[in-house]
Amino acid sequence: MSHDDFPTDRPAVVTCGLPYANGDLHIGHLRTYVSGDAYARALETLGQETAFVSGSDMHGTPVAVNAEKEGVSPEEFALDHHETYAGTFPKFNVEFDNYGHTHEPTNTELTREIVRTLDEAGHVYEKEIQVAYDPTDDQWLPDRYVEGTCPYCGEQARGDECDEGCGRHLEPGEIEDPVSAISGNPAEYRERTHKFFRVSEFEDYLTGFLDRLEGTSNAKNQPREWIENGLQDWCITRDMDWGIDYPGEDGDDLVLYVWVDAPIEYVASTKQYTERVGADTFDWETVWKANAPDADDPAAADAETWAGRDTGEIVHIIGRDIIQHHTVFWPSMLRAAGYNEPRAVMASGFVNLDGAAFSTSRDRAVWADEYLDEGFDPDLVRYYLTTTGGFQQDVDFSWEKFQERVNGELVGTLGNFAYRSLLFAARNYGGTPDATTSEEVASRIEEAVEDFEAAVNDYSLKRAGDAAVALAGFGNEYIQRNEPWNLTDDDPDRAEQVIYDCVQVAKAVAVLAAPILPGKAQRLWEQLGEDGSVHDASLEACLESPPGDFGEPDELFEKIEDDRVEELSAEMEASAGPADDGEADDGEADGESADDAEDEPAPDLEPIADDRISFEDFQDLDIRVGEIEAAEPIEGADDLARLEVDIGVERRQIVAGIKQLHDLDELAGTRAVIVANLEKAELFGVESNGMLLAAGEDADILTTHGDSAPGTKVR
Ligand code: 2FM
Ligand code: ZN
Repeated sequence: MSHDDFPTDRPAVVTCGLPYANGDLHIGHLRTYVSGDAYARALETLGQETAFVSGSDMHGTPVAVNAEKEGVSPEEFALDHHETYAGTFPKFNVEFDNYGHTHEPTNTELTREIVRTLDEAGHVYEKEIQVAYDPTDDQWLPDRYVEGTCPYCGEQARGDECDEGCGRHLEPGEIEDPVSAISGNPAEYRERTHKFFRVSEFEDYLTGFLDRLEGTSNAKNQPREWIENGLQDWCITRDMDWGIDYPGEDGDDLVLYVWVDAPIEYVASTKQYTERVGADTFDWETVWKANAPDADDPAAADAETWAGRDTGEIVHIIGRDIIQHHTVFWPSMLRAAGYNEPRAVMASGFVNLDGAAFSTSRDRAVWADEYLDEGFDPDLVRYYLTTTGGFQQDVDFSWEKFQERVNGELVGTLGNFAYRSLLFAARNYGGTPDATTSEEVASRIEEAVEDFEAAVNDYSLKRAGDAAVALAGFGNEYIQRNEPWNLTDDDPDRAEQVIYDCVQVAKAVAVLAAPILPGKAQRLWEQLGEDGSVHDASLEACLESPPGDFGEPDELFEKIEDDRVEELSAEMEASAGPADDGEADDGEADGESADDAEDEPAPDLEPIADDRISFEDFQDLDIRVGEIEAAEPIEGADDLARLEVDIGVERRQIVAGIKQLHDLDELAGTRAVIVANLEKAELFGVESNGMLLAAGEDADILTTHGDSAPGTKVR
């Protein structure tokens, strides 16, 4: 079943992974929230009725362990952080329709209701399991209270997650050589009775769900492997008292696993929004429950069961480390409780800092507050985080790269175009001159609108942002080519026409840039003399006449100077303290690449090969610049993708092992370096006629520095 394109006539809910209320926010965390906000705004620009919700994740050991280290109660600790987060997001123009938290009654009651439903329908059973226990301190050690060795990959891992190795979710009792994360005492395993959710029952349903699921390819593909390897039932209780009591079993130190009540906050937060604005304005039940297939048909897997159902559009935006929770556990819970399923999951890559992971404990981070204190506009980092690479790719932040993109695209292209056009219009005509949009400009704006619409439907924020900046780039080229400053005397009508066109383009740029640059787009809107909010403008507004009068604009963006960047880079270097002190570092939902990589020695580089080849041998290689035109996963192959590549002289089909490492939907248009005279090979039944060159484990695709055309020989 394929979903109708956005906008549909059904309401949508866009959610962001809940941040654990346990530490300060940095720009790594912000990637999820800025993207969620931009995507929700973009849907609204398309005309989609949308609620944007999230909340703080208050329970679980990530909060309890940190609170214990600070010697305060988990409730006080989490509430404090929750309030800080709720105050920080709007400073980055991240404006949730509702931002709640998981400890509020709306969530605790809904969680118990859903778990009761699961239990009564026979989806939950009890089982004796081994749980880590610290005999010296007489304490159970759930999840992050225990550390040890991952049974799957042998890396150091913490209780419920192999955060430094294979990334798997670990069930209680699985971790080997357990020690207490609090005291360092060796732990032992003791028998306890826990509740299990029969996830294994949902295999068929999940297979169908993944066929229907939209979003990024990592979220659609990775879970298939987990399902193929056989689903395990899921332990949904923990031995601790911070959390939500299992319904009907209050007071026995057994609470629900944090991953049960956390996603339910997506629903609870929407419900709070409805309670505030009224069901006539936005009805949470229409999205989450209305018209869902019957709950007692948990195997409702087939497309037919869902086809044509008038259900809401649920889009989850998360970090890629929590794909399993959102594509296996959560949809199974929703199905078992008779709720609607997500339409899309967008799972982002992490944010790295100058080539290495963020480290909150080493203060190797760009903190949210520090960024703002430096006086940078929030829209600049929004632009950087959403458009630097495809959504699934890691984004590397450095002040130099930030400067390059701000000065190049925002100052040099968008800001420059808007300023020069509006200044010319204001000085010569007191605003928009008297004309109508030319055919050339109208069709370029239509093209940008189509690119934007397609990008939103393909879940690509980068392409949505690029559509706006490329349109501004066209505007610059148009004004330069037509030289209105040379026409005002000799051909005043033509000058008016050109400037009218530019004002129209500026208006369209404001509408298309608004989701990613909400503050700056609003400023441009006001400079154009438009009333109200640019966020209420629909795509049609891109071609509606701009208002008549406006005064001289001021510049939208300010250039970042080199000495500023040098200073900031030096400060960042200096503040990165000594080696990590081992404190918990909790940024999973936030796109932080966790604190794992920073203590590791530099990766072993392969020694340079001893055998030299002759220049003649090298010349035998025919290496060319190619442009990827299309990329799609090869069905059944774990890693392979089929690429269509224009290498100037011809179009080639090339198979490359990049399926899991790149967002295939984002690759079209990428210039790549291709070995064109390699022998043909057949991989998974697909002929590969050439080789894509890529660096390292992440298959970092080799591209060109300038703009060499496809077919250019690489020497
Ligand atoms: O991994 C995390 O940081 C969790 N706090 C994310 C929860 S997202 C959701 F499902 F609620
Ligand atoms: Zn592992």
